[in-house]
Amino acid sequence: MSKPLLEVLDRKGQKPPPVWLMRQAGRYLPEYRAMRAQAGGFLKLCLTPKLAAEVTLQPIRRFGFDAAILFSDILLVPYALGQHIWFAEGEGPRLAPIINRGELVRIKKDLDHSRLLPVYEAIAEVKAKLVPSVALLGFCGAPWTVATYMTAGMSTADQAPARLFAYRDPEGFAMLIDVLIESSAEYLARQFEAGVDAVQIFDTWAGVLPPEELQRWSVLPMNRLIAQLRAKVPTAKIIGFPRGVGSGLRAYATDLDLDALGLDWTVDLKFVHEEVQPRLPVQGNLDPLVLVAGGAALDRAIDTILDMLSGGPFIFNLGHGILPETPIAHVEQMLKRIRG
Ligand code: CP3
Repeated sequence: MSKPLLEVLDRKGQKPPPVWLMRQAGRYLPEYRAMRAQAGGFLKLCLTPKLAAEVTLQPIRRFGFDAAILFSDILLVPYALGQHIWFAEGEGPRLAPIINRGELVRIKKDLDHSRLLPVYEAIAEVKAKLVPSVALLGFCGAPWTVATYMTAGMSTADQAPARLFAYRDPEGFAMLIDVLIESSAEYLARQFEAGVDAVQIFDTWAGVLPPEELQRWSVLPMNRLIAQLRAKVPTAKIIGFPRGVGSGLRAYATDLDLDALGLDWTVDLKFVHEEVQPRLPVQGNLDPLVLVAGGAALDRAIDTILDMLSGGPFIFNLGHGILPETPIAHVEQMLKRIRG
């Protein structure tokens, strides 16, 4: 049985378009909140294969999305590099920060795969339970985005600590980026080995970089990561998601060997329709806040996206992760509007 999402990655447009949502397993679902409470912590949930698999499947059962994305986190890479990491309830991630070259001694050069075995096990478990038409997605963070968390030790408004490290000591910062390129390529290759159909690379913080820095710390490292992954897994299907880069998207569409490009909700769809979609399939880009608002504004926003993008290869998604306050009824309304 074919998987509509994989058809799109092979550049075959589907009507209606396949749909999944970033962060589709998460706090807007009561069944997720119950499992998280039962697991006694977010990392525990990620690292217990049975629970991670169950949480991955929750939104598929409830909504019938066209893809399941493995329940995990981009910060498992720093965890497997030996960086101390924890998730404080309601506060997000915390890591022991690496703000200069000297502090790189805190991490190893290679992933400790024994720490990631639960992830690969969870993939196999989901794969065995998933209906055949639904694609299974793995993921990692882009080197730049993961480096911003490793440097700041948390989410900040503009990830200034990584930008400062990179301006003050580009060669030192490049050492960190190089470790992340190698380990992310290996991590994604193992995810394919365990059974994912495609992967998404999240560059959530690409948008804080000026053009030259964007090229150096986001586009080029992604390019090397993709090349290394393709050398290990020639059939790999790869979606890139650089958030907040505006017309910088052109470089991701032309310079990178991607199978699809994820769009945040601020991009100009006319530009995407004319200059990006003719080159490669696109995914996105409903504003997560309009899904919170619902009503006529939601219908209108969905129609605009479908009018602009569903004539070509297209995957419907949000422009960033679903917000915890999103009403479930609005997700149902959205699916009805897309699928008719
Ligand atoms: O999409 C999915 O459903 C799969 C699971 C997934 C999570 N994180 C679960 C999660 C994925 C793909 C991610 C990626 C991720 N993690 C990114 C890139 C995408 C993005 O959203 O920007 C980033 C930057 C992270 C790092 C991270 N993890 C942050 C900043 C936070 C705190 C913010 C928040 O929403 O709480 C997390 C925690 C996190 N990751 C949660 C979930 C469901 C919330 C944890 C909880 O239950 O309290």
